[in-house]
Amino acid sequence: MALRPLRLGVNIDHVATIRNARGGAHPDPLRAARAAEAAGADGITAHLREDRRHIADDDIARLVAELERPLNLEMAPTAEMTAIALRHRPHAVCLVPEKREERTTEGGLDIAVHHNTVAPIVAELGTAGIRVSLFIEPSGVQLAVARAMGAPVVELHTGSYAEAVLSGERARIGTELGRLREAAAEGARLGLEVHAGHGLTFDNVGAIAAIPELAELNIGHFLVGEAIFTGLEAAIVRMRRLMEAARAEAGA
Ligand code: PXP
Repeated sequence: MALRPLRLGVNIDHVATIRNARGGAHPDPLRAARAAEAAGADGITAHLREDRRHIADDDIARLVAELERPLNLEMAPTAEMTAIALRHRPHAVCLVPEKREERTTEGGLDIAVHHNTVAPIVAELGTAGIRVSLFIEPSGVQLAVARAMGAPVVELHTGSYAEAVLSGERARIGTELGRLREAAAEGARLGLEVHAGHGLTFDNVGAIAAIPELAELNIGHFLVGEAIFTGLEAAIVRMRRLMEAARAEAGA
């Protein structure tokens, strides 16, 4: 049985990282987003961090105004970011944990611990018609809390799986994949739309793309890095092909 199509959201944060290394306007993340759309991205993802280390407020305004595909705004669950989301009304918001000293989003948002902060934001954004997703570890407790909060979408953090693949330890890879597979199935059983992302590459995307319940992958750092060698469009086209091939094989 053919599996449902798997969307690819392209995260353009690190185009802004390169731009900001020199100040100025080049390379422009909006231009990268347009190139990603032309290459077949189903959506664009951008993370407005509290320290504005890559994407800036003006980037969000331009992306909302000019993109053809949906924008998924990643942000910390804070009052400042909620006000920004309500002002710009992106198609989707993904709530992520944020520590200023971290290099990237290390681990999912613990929505059980931070329930009282996150639940009202989920409700407020949902009432405004924004599709809210919660970036969580693949765990039954986190999924149950997401369901109880009324979030329509969860995104499973694939960072531990990506690290396991880098380690080459087969048992560890199996354990991490098992957690992701179980969480995707449980999320779907609870009626949640399930996405996944973080640390995905040409080498590790296949096993994730083959998880039948997943509806979307969000991929950024690897694609922007690969774009140095092949161009962004070629990198996205190849990622899509790998995703589709893994899915076709899993559904055969
Ligand atoms: N999904 C979420 C929620 C993220 O925070 C990130 C990193 O910003 C990604 C996906 C993409 O991760 P990567 O840049 O490692 O592909």
